[in-house]
Amino acid sequence: MKRIVITGGTGFVGRSICEHLVEHDAGCRLVVPTRRLAGSHPLQVLPTVDLVQADVHDAKAITPLLEGADALVQLVAILHGSAEDFDRVHVQLQRTLAAACTAAGVRRVVQVSALAVGPQAPSNYLRSKAAGEAVWQAWGRSSGGALTVLRPSVIFGAEDRFTNLFARLQRLFPVLPLAGSGAKFQPVWVGDVAQAVVESLAGGHAAGPVIECAGPDVMTLEQIVQRVGAMAGCRRPVLPLPEAAGMLQAAAMGVLPGEPLMSRDNVLSMRVPSVAGGTLPGLAALGIDPAPLEILAGHFSPADPRRR
Ligand SMILES: NC(=O)c1ccc[n+]([C@@H]2O[C@H](COP(=O)([O-])OP(=O)(O)OC[C@H]3O[C@@H](n4cnc5c(N)ncnc54)[C@H](OP(=O)(O)O)[C@@H]3O)[C@@H](O)[C@H]2O)c1
Repeated sequence: MKRIVITGGTGFVGRSICEHLVEHDAGCRLVVPTRRLAGSHPLQVLPTVDLVQADVHDAKAITPLLEGADALVQLVAILHGSAEDFDRVHVQLQRTLAAACTAAGVRRVVQVSALAVGPQAPSNYLRSKAAGEAVWQAWGRSSGGALTVLRPSVIFGAEDRFTNLFARLQRLFPVLPLAGSGAKFQPVWVGDVAQAVVESLAGGHAAGPVIECAGPDVMTLEQIVQRVGAMAGCRRPVLPLPEAAGMLQAAAMGVLPGEPLMSRDNVLSMRVPSVAGGTLPGLAALGIDPAPLEILAGHFSPADPRRR
């Protein structure tokens, strides 16, 4: 491929995807739109990445970027917001991007969705992500373009906001009150999700149009917190909170300035397991043997600062 556009490429998962794509094919240019080009960004050190300021919601801005592109990798998403915010980003934006792909002649799309999405799912996040998937499925049918939808469980990596938050909280507090402590996840390493994107772009959708991206272990949130605490050398007791208390905690966080650690919608998302169902192909279909959470041990190890 000569040129790939990666919307949402500046984020946690997008950065890893860019690194994997550059490593896979040093001759391919990666175009990464961002809302703000302020200061330096880690992607700017990659020689074949073009970070460009553009409003991806604006068809007039995004269509020219897609012209001549071999593929779109779509990652833009939000975790918090009102029902209208989720609809704008997870559904309306997907319509804009799908129409722009058709107008620009883009024939291959990888859409990063999430496990447990569905029209009847308990949260705005999961329902709107399902509606976004449906937009891309309709694009695939009407345009004949090649679509791969990746559905990851929670994604971990050295730069994530998930395991690092739980390590930080356990360093600060003697006990960790935890909403959704029994919720089930199958954490997947960001490097494996990035490799899944590379394989999807290289091999088309031979493995299937929807692929579940899950790690080797099914764990409750409490078990994840305790494994992170053990790796970080600061394992604390977890105090499971009933859902109602978790909703109150999330509501209180929601009125504080800045991005909340947890929203009421996140608590609702945890009602359904973020675990591979097994009926759809998984990472093995792409030749990937997923890494366990312990791949982060060096990152968290307080004993050997060189490994951090
Ligand atoms: N992280 C996980 O555990 C996880 C689990 C399952 C699925 N996923 C999915 O994986 C994808 C990537 O997740 P991530 O964790 O990398 O997300 P992230 O770090 O929050 O990055 C999201 C990107 O989207 C862009 N963006 C955010 N809100 C936007 C808006 N309103 N309009 C336009 N652009 C916006 C941002 O770009 P700029 O700020 O540069 O414009 C940012 O680079 C998402 O689709 C997510 O649903 C993630």
